Amino acid sequence: MPSRRSFLGQAASFAAFPQSDKKIRLAIVGGGFGATFHFHEHPNCSVAAVADLYPERRNRLRDHYKCDSVYHSMEDMLAKRRDLDAVAIFSGAPDHVKHVQYCMERGLHVCCAVPAAMSLEEAGRLRAVKEKTGLRYMMAESSYYRQAAIHARNLYRQGAFGAIAYSEVEYYHDFNIEDRLNKKPSLWFHPDGAHSWRQGLPPMHYPTHSLGFVVGVTRERIATVSCQGLEERAKAARIPTNVYQNPFFNEFAVMKTNKGHLVRHNEFRQIAAPEMERAQWYGEKASLLMAKPGIHGDIWQDRFGKPRPANVPEFWNSDLLPPAMRHNSGHGGSAAFISAEFIQCLLENREPTVNVYEALAMTVPGIVAHQSALKGGELMKVPSFDRA
Ligand SMILES: NC(=O)c1ccc[n+]([C@@H]2O[C@H](COP(=O)([O-])OP(=O)(O)OC[C@H]3O[C@@H](n4cnc5c(N)ncnc54)[C@H](O)[C@@H]3O)[C@@H](O)[C@H]2O)c1
Repeated sequence: MPSRRSFLGQAASFAAFPQSDKKIRLAIVGGGFGATFHFHEHPNCSVAAVADLYPERRNRLRDHYKCDSVYHSMEDMLAKRRDLDAVAIFSGAPDHVKHVQYCMERGLHVCCAVPAAMSLEEAGRLRAVKEKTGLRYMMAESSYYRQAAIHARNLYRQGAFGAIAYSEVEYYHDFNIEDRLNKKPSLWFHPDGAHSWRQGLPPMHYPTHSLGFVVGVTRERIATVSCQGLEERAKAARIPTNVYQNPFFNEFAVMKTNKGHLVRHNEFRQIAAPEMERAQWYGEKASLLMAKPGIHGDIWQDRFGKPRPANVPEFWNSDLLPPAMRHNSGHGGSAAFISAEFIQCLLENREPTVNVYEALAMTVPGIVAHQSALKGGELMKVPSFDRA
């Protein structure tokens, strides 16, 4: 079991915080991915309302969170419920900023799915509404709480890597083109058969799983980017009514951080590879290579030493989480951590780990990367959305 000491420098552990009877009244929006979290297992959280536009999704939310206050939309829910403290938003990516703004302007703290924003204009609006209201905003980035990423962050802070000179980060998710062509229920379509927001989405507009491994470990910022896009060659696979005007299924970027370190970043949606969110961190003193599913486990390599198993601890099985949440959970054990961290930051009246500045540092470089890809790989500067 990992010691609490290994977490120094991160948010305080559950065990370190005095227990209270306070309950955060939380609403959940979006019954797809949103019906896979563990907020209701936290002793200080009550899931007080849930909402989705589709009946089957509403049922999922009701069953998963055991919550009978079910609404047909977020807007309807917030018009009727004035007793809520916070909202966890799991709507589609293009709606995130609009929905976060809607909730924060009504005085509610927000935990929102990735990505934080879809354009630089949206990024500015998100930061502005957070700073204006002073409420808590957390991005639910799963990479940040994958067990190997927690391990990498701890070791980095202890100096075990030295400086991380080069990282390879990637999110591979092979969307089945046949499903789209045959209009099968899948990620391509909403439950009513309408095109989902994923059709044609520029891969680099979904960069946070990969950049969570960079920003979330070293807290460095991506300063410059050059990106190339790969067009789908099979004509039948191209998306004719692409609302994003995006020709690329796969995007590959070379980035440099504000400390001069290099990052190779792949966002691939058509690839013969297992679905994975994965990083390799190459440090001056040592490197950590995350497991390749079905090929090898997590590997630690000391400089001039031999590669050996990294023995990543099961952080979820520790006092970092409330007792009822100490179980493995979705996306590499991250779902329980994200749920607990959002409730803890509200109880402790502090900013969450992945606050608005970290969230935008994980999101904005991808937006600029896609612009670079559209310009054939032009080297571009990434604007900062840190606190002014
Ligand atoms: N590992 C991860 O971090 C991870 C994994 C999957 C999805 N996601 C993110 O989570 C979000 C949700 O993913 P998904 O696959 O469930 O998407 P989805 O499009 O299938 O579902 C979104 C849901 O939000 C609901 N919704 C939209 N507007 C609403 C409103 N005004 N009121 C109530 N409900 C509303 C829709 O009805 C829909 O059911 C996405 O932003 C995605 O990027 C993250």
